[in-house]
Parts: sequence; structure tokens; C-alpha cells
Amino acid sequence: MSFRIQPAAPARPNRCQLFGPGSRPAIFEKMAGSAADVINLDLEDSVAPDDKPEARRNIIQAIGDIDWGKKTLSVRINGLDTPYWYRDVVDLLEQASDRIDQIMIPKVGCAGDIYAVDALVTAVERAKGRAKPIKFEVIIESAAGIAHVEEIAAASPRMEAMSLGAADFAASMGMQTTGIGGTQENYYMIREGAKYWSDPWHWAQAAIVAACRTHGVLPVDGPFGDFSDDEGFRAQARRSATLGMVGKWAIHPKQVAIANEVFTPSEEAVSEAREILAAMEKAKAEGLGATVYKGRLVDIASIKQAEVIVAQAELIASS
Ligand code: COA
Ligand code: MG
Repeated sequence: MSFRIQPAAPARPNRCQLFGPGSRPAIFEKMAGSAADVINLDLEDSVAPDDKPEARRNIIQAIGDIDWGKKTLSVRINGLDTPYWYRDVVDLLEQASDRIDQIMIPKVGCAGDIYAVDALVTAVERAKGRAKPIKFEVIIESAAGIAHVEEIAAASPRMEAMSLGAADFAASMGMQTTGIGGTQENYYMIREGAKYWSDPWHWAQAAIVAACRTHGVLPVDGPFGDFSDDEGFRAQARRSATLGMVGKWAIHPKQVAIANEVFTPSEEAVSEAREILAAMEKAKAEGLGATVYKGRLVDIASIKQAEVIVAQAELIASS
């Protein structure tokens, strides 16, 4: 075990991030009224190039005018490979109220990308005397992004969350699919004539979780495009939760409840975790480091596993 203690990730719920195009202000109130923990108003790929200026104005106005409750309020800016991103940052930070919490930087490829945005954000914050520092979240959605995932997670103290963006990631990797997340028809193995599907997103997700947990950043699963497939969304979300991710995007409001359900530890899981903690307390009092719970081994590592579930449940209950 390294002597360096793993830093805690930000203590806020992030079970669902609901997206909406900045060019569609009619849905902003509905987004604010949703059960999502995080709102992502989009200036990037759901907004056509000609609509970017109007989308910026819509978002700046809505940040101040709408009651966003206790939600984390984030705006997705355009990528650093476009002519739009600097204007997104400057207009938002010069004109939007302090209610904005975070900007989401898409298609990051290296720590230098974060440094560049950080420098611009810092300058505008100082020039305008903004009291509340903007936080960053990023999307890993390119070969370079996943290759440099750890330096990106460590790139700035502003870093709060990191998502996997399945569609752009697949394109950048040259993957033969047009699906946005979920089961891929051709990713299977054969045994005795039967097909067994595997998970092509697994490696990228695990790499993101490891980078995030090393540097105290929240790992999040990105979009699931087929919003008519609730069971497919649920299965993808459950795999992500099992791997250590804390939440998932919703690109349609009907996905919010499923994400909240999956990323809130169930009552059953929480009571089992509490029972394991109680069993270990008893074992410790008897001078033991390990004991038996429901016929299986629990030891000091089990305390940490159980604490993950209890802590997540308490964080959600108190928010
Ligand atoms: N947030 C909140 N409410 C939304 C919403 C969203 N993202 N998308 C749709 N709604 C509302 C609709 O206004 C409608 O409300 P109503 O019942 O009061 O009329 C209701 O939810 C049902 O909407 P529906 O007709 O099923 O969808 P749509 O055709 O209006 O929109 C999408 C479908 C996918 C275009 C839309 O959900 C969307 O733009 N999603 C986000 C896309 C995005 O931001 N992508 C970038 C990240 S990948
Ligand atoms: Mg993308």
C-alpha cells in the first residue's frame, strides 16, 4: 500500500446528469424540475453551429433566472478543436450569475487542454472578481483522452468529475459501431455454438475509475443513446455502478429515474453492509481480524467495502 492516502472525491450526489441543448430553452424549466442531481446545459454537439451565439445567451439568462434548487449546474462548452470554446468561457464567466457551478470540457486529450481552459477561466474570474471558483468536469471520448486519462484527472484542482463519452470514443477508436453505449451485437464469444456477449466499454470505464479514484475525481458513465430501451440502460448503469462509477447521463428525462434507482444503494445492500460492519465490530472486540457472515469470509477489507455502500447511501440521504 502506498503511503499516499487516496483522496476523497467531491461529497455530492452525481447519480444522474440530465442534458439539454442550449438552443432549446423551452425545456430548461423541466430540467430544473427533474430529479437529476446534475444539469448539463449544452453548447456543444446538440447545438448547430449557427445557433451557438443564441444558445450562449439562453444559457446565461437561464442560469440566473431559473430556480435550479440544490442541483449542480454545469454547462458543456465546445471542444478546444473548435473556434467556439473561448467565447463560451468568456461569455459565461463575464455574464452568468454565480449560480453556475461547473463547466464541462468535452474531447479532452491531455492535461495541457485542462491547463489552457484553467488559464482562461482564472483570468476571467480575476478580471470580474468572481467569488466562486468554477469547477471542471471533462469527457473522455477519444483515443488520446483514454491514453492520457490519469494526467487529465490530475490536471487541475478544479477537476470534479470525468465521464466516458461512448459515441465520440467509439469513433476516435475506429470501433465498428454506431451504437451509443450498451451491448454491441458483434462483441461476443462462442462456446459450444452459443453466443456470449461481452462489454466493449469495460476497459475504458475501468481506466477512468482508476484515474478518478487516484486523484479524487467522480467517475461517471456517459450517454446511452437508445432511450426507448429502459432495460438496456439499466443493465449498462448497473455494470457502471459495479465498476465504481457514481452516476450516468440522461439524454432523455425518462432515463433519470432509472439512473437514480441504480446509483442509490438499495435498502437491502445498505442493511447488509451495516450487518457486515456490526459483525466486524464484534470480531474486533473479540480480538479477531476476520469472521464469518452468512457463511462467507468477512475481514478488515470488508469493512472498507461496506463503508463505500453506507457512505454513498448517507451522502444521498443527506443531500
Ligand atoms: N430535459 C427535460 N425535458 C425534456 C428533455 C430534456 N433533455 N427532452 C425532452 N423533454 C421533455 C419534452 O419537452 C416533453 O415534455 P412535455 O411532455 O411537457 O411535452 C417530454 O420531455 C417528452 O419528450 P419527447 O417528445 O419524448 O422528446 P423530444 O422529441 O422532445 O426530445 C431529444 C428528444 C432526444 C431530442 C431530447 O430529449 C434532447 O434534446 N435530449 C438531450 C440531447 C443532448 O443534450 N445531447 C447532448 C448530450 S449527448
Ligand atoms: Mg461527444
